[in-house]
Amino acid sequence: MGLKLETLPVKQGDYNLKNYEEAYRNFRWETIEADFSWHKTGKVNMAYEAIDRHAEGFRKNKIALYFRDQNRYEKYTFKEMKELTNKAANVLKDMGVEKGDRVFIFLPRSPELYFALLGAIKLGAIVGPLFEAFMEGAVRDRLQDSGAKVLVTNPELYKRVPVQDLPDLKKVLLVGEKIEETDRIADFNRRMAEADRHLDITWVGREDGLILHYTSGSTGKPKGVLHVHNAMIQHYATGKWVLDLKEDDVYWCTADPGWVTGTSYGVFAPWLNGASSVIVGGRFSPDDWYKTIEDFRVTVWYSAPTAFRMLMGAGDELVKKYDLSSLRHILSVGEPLNPEVIRWGYKVFGRRIHDTWWMTETGAILISNYPCMEIRPGSMGRPIPGVEAAIVDDQGNELPPYRMGNLAIKKGWPSMMRQIWNNPAKYESYFLPNGWYISGDTAYMDEDGYFWFQGRKDDVILTSGERVGPFEVESKLVEHPAVAEAGVIGKPDPVRGEIIKAFISLREGYEPSEELKEEIRQFVRQGLAAHAAPREIEFRDKLPKTRSGKIMRRVLKAWELNLPAGDLSTMED
Ligand code: PRX
Repeated sequence: MGLKLETLPVKQGDYNLKNYEEAYRNFRWETIEADFSWHKTGKVNMAYEAIDRHAEGFRKNKIALYFRDQNRYEKYTFKEMKELTNKAANVLKDMGVEKGDRVFIFLPRSPELYFALLGAIKLGAIVGPLFEAFMEGAVRDRLQDSGAKVLVTNPELYKRVPVQDLPDLKKVLLVGEKIEETDRIADFNRRMAEADRHLDITWVGREDGLILHYTSGSTGKPKGVLHVHNAMIQHYATGKWVLDLKEDDVYWCTADPGWVTGTSYGVFAPWLNGASSVIVGGRFSPDDWYKTIEDFRVTVWYSAPTAFRMLMGAGDELVKKYDLSSLRHILSVGEPLNPEVIRWGYKVFGRRIHDTWWMTETGAILISNYPCMEIRPGSMGRPIPGVEAAIVDDQGNELPPYRMGNLAIKKGWPSMMRQIWNNPAKYESYFLPNGWYISGDTAYMDEDGYFWFQGRKDDVILTSGERVGPFEVESKLVEHPAVAEAGVIGKPDPVRGEIIKAFISLREGYEPSEELKEEIRQFVRQGLAAHAAPREIEFRDKLPKTRSGKIMRRVLKAWELNLPAGDLSTMED
């Protein structure tokens, strides 16, 4: 007899996906296409399917968006969303936006962000959401690479936009009060007030560009992952099967639209399913989060392991202060979900937390736990119907159960990225000749087809669920006058999954000190983003390098974890 496997049983309920095995065996993507209006009309646009279709039907007076932050509490029906996104589209059209143009949005979570995002999509533009914490360097990289033509931002964030370095950027719409218009700058709110609420939406092809999300790898600058309108098929399907969205649900996705979860599952999936969505601005606080669930009677909640760990850290007494009885389905994404967190969630919420696995590049959930399926804490679950997943070696040969290898997906799922912007070679590098997409994650599969995450194959850092490329941080660090060389790694952390740790060698004339550490940390915060700043800095006289001068992060990691450093044959000395 083997080890007794810990499982969490299914709670009986009327779920959208009733029998996983049967669905997995029989499902074909064509069958779900009949749920979209383009199936009959031939006219495609994501924003039409997510908003207008409902505004024209029985959901027109249903609340699409509840918004709350410290200053605002607002709600919008599907009909209002249709008109406001039409207006935003007309405002953008006035700025010269046409099909295929890149429109970037750099705003804190706010209704205007969602109007602008969907408005741009209604014109057939490719939208690029930027996380509000980005500083000048991060903003420059993304706007330059994408050739963004129009930017929607606010006066505060606009200070971080280096317009002198952005020749393609023609117009900036500022969301704020008393905006003075110039050749380049226009007042978003004033123009929204004056704009026509009617629009001839721009119809596109299913393979036309929809959204660009920049994400990090272990080398090079962040890369622009392009998704197309066709992704809606999978957003919709996973919204049904995985989020289990139903007519009466109040759904809350805690992710910011600057990251892919905040668009695929903060905009597209819920609204394609006609659900009411809660969006909360501001920063994380345990009280505020529980209050959100209580106030809005949230039923379906999609969040991330770091947040659950922080809530766990805030204690069980806090949970009892709130009425969380509305919750019926909880999900997680972005980093490994510890079994301990699942057990805690089961205890305090009386609900299972369902882990889901996917990436910026995959556009939507590919492996998941479903309400109708037994959960094995620590496992990411099983592939969604219509998707083939496997563990393969570097040549693409499938490995048997329990062998660790590359987590791979058979190319061709509906929401797969279609390009790395300006970088076709990078795009190709994800795929093996025999059709496997290589995720960069290592995992194994058990004999029942559940997948178990083991780690990243590259040096990408997952800190608080955010993906940070060490190269970006290192590049910023060496811009500091005191820094000669820098190597950056992810250091395991009980709450954040990993934290960023930098090893630094100093230039002549600089002495290690706590003040200098803080100064360097602030330098990265100000130049790149707060979440990219190293929490820990260690000064070393010399960093381990290959003979070709590349810093060996692997050796830094071994130093940090007190592990053997492995093969050092390529090291300098
Ligand atoms: O390493 C995997 C981890 O997050 C990476 C993708 O990061 P990003 O593109 O930022 O997208 C995050 C949200 C879709 C993956 O390569 N990751 C994602 N989900 C899980 C995970 N690691 C473990 N368990 C998960 N459920």
